[in-house]
Amino acid sequence: MAPLRCFLIFAVHFLFMQTLGNSETCPDCFIHSRAAYYPNSDEKGTEVGECGFGTFGATINGGDVSAASELYRGGVGCGSCYQVRCTNSYYCLDKGVTVVITDHGSSDNTDFILSRRAFGGMAQNTDAAASLLALGIVDIEYKRVSCSYPNKNITFKIDEHSNNPYYLAFVIWYQQGKMDITAVQLCETQNFVCKLLDRSYGAVWTTTSPPSGPLAIRMLFSANDGDETWVVPVNNIPGNWKPGDTYDSGVQVNV
Ligand SMILES: *[C@@H]1O[C@H](CO)[C@@H](O)[C@H](O)[C@H]1NC(C)=O
Repeated sequence: MAPLRCFLIFAVHFLFMQTLGNSETCPDCFIHSRAAYYPNSDEKGTEVGECGFGTFGATINGGDVSAASELYRGGVGCGSCYQVRCTNSYYCLDKGVTVVITDHGSSDNTDFILSRRAFGGMAQNTDAAASLLALGIVDIEYKRVSCSYPNKNITFKIDEHSNNPYYLAFVIWYQQGKMDITAVQLCETQNFVCKLLDRSYGAVWTTTSPPSGPLAIRMLFSANDGDETWVVPVNNIPGNWKPGDTYDSGVQVNV
């Protein structure tokens, strides 16, 4: 009898661990959690989000954006997309909303702090949205999904604190798909000498004394299953790059 009981306990424990770990074993399953919303009166996100996206981080995806807690992943999670739906069938839409992570934070055991617009967007109608907003924090389910930016290529936005030719900082906009950008190389385009850049914080990549002349920014895309691919841009950044400007890479990643 004892060995059987032991086995049953083990089996139950194993099933429980499977459920906990289902983001790895079942990437398409929804995971239970909680979500709050930004306490500001603004419908959209925040311009000072920890991803370093600036205004883009408040308004991208129509303002359906979110701060993430664990899913921020030291900045790797910046720009990733999640389908988030609240679970109260009386108020909530089955499809929920798709949000882009542009900030870091948590509030009372939440995985997401949604923009007010995204939070209300989980509701079936305006009245239900008002009821959800009044609750403040709701039970949700979420899963990673592809980001979708129709007619956009991956774009480099030169940070305003950059100073040509001494200091280059930039963020990467409009990354589609479900992969993570886990490393970035800066290459000069004469001899293709490259150097790995530092993630200074969030989605912000920096280097002091960048090479002169046109620059190629290569990105390492990493998948959940461990697949990694270097993506080489079609377009270079011109040598006379300017703080605040954006440059189209000419490539997009859809997986
Ligand atoms: C994206 O890049 C492609 C190929 O480099 C280019 O032909 C296209 O015009 C770009 N799309 C946009 C919206 O800029």
